[in-house]
Amino acid sequence: MITVTFILKDGSRQTLDATEGETLMQLATGNGVPGIEGACGGFCSCATCHVYVESDHPLPSPAEDEQAMLAGTAAVREANSRLGCQITLTPELDGLVVRMPERQ
Ligand code: FES
Repeated sequence: MITVTFILKDGSRQTLDATEGETLMQLATGNGVPGIEGACGGFCSCATCHVYVESDHPLPSPAEDEQAMLAGTAAVREANSRLGCQITLTPELDGLVVRMPERQ
């Protein structure tokens, strides 16, 4: 099982069970998690799936196209900023915790 916790803008938490192979953005938008949009459908061209990764899970470094999109996020980019559409959920990411930015 892969469980992901979203920390919403109001500080509340929403924990969801994920399916291996779906992206963090798909998990969030498919379950109506507020604060994430995924406007481009996951093609790494909108940056409306920006999240802050708060847990210590080993994520691959952002690819060049993700880095480029992270440079233009609506909310402040932080060291733990990632795009949810570029995080594919695997059992190794069970327990992942991400925080929503102030805006997308
Ligand atoms: S959904 Fe558009 S960049 Fe992630």
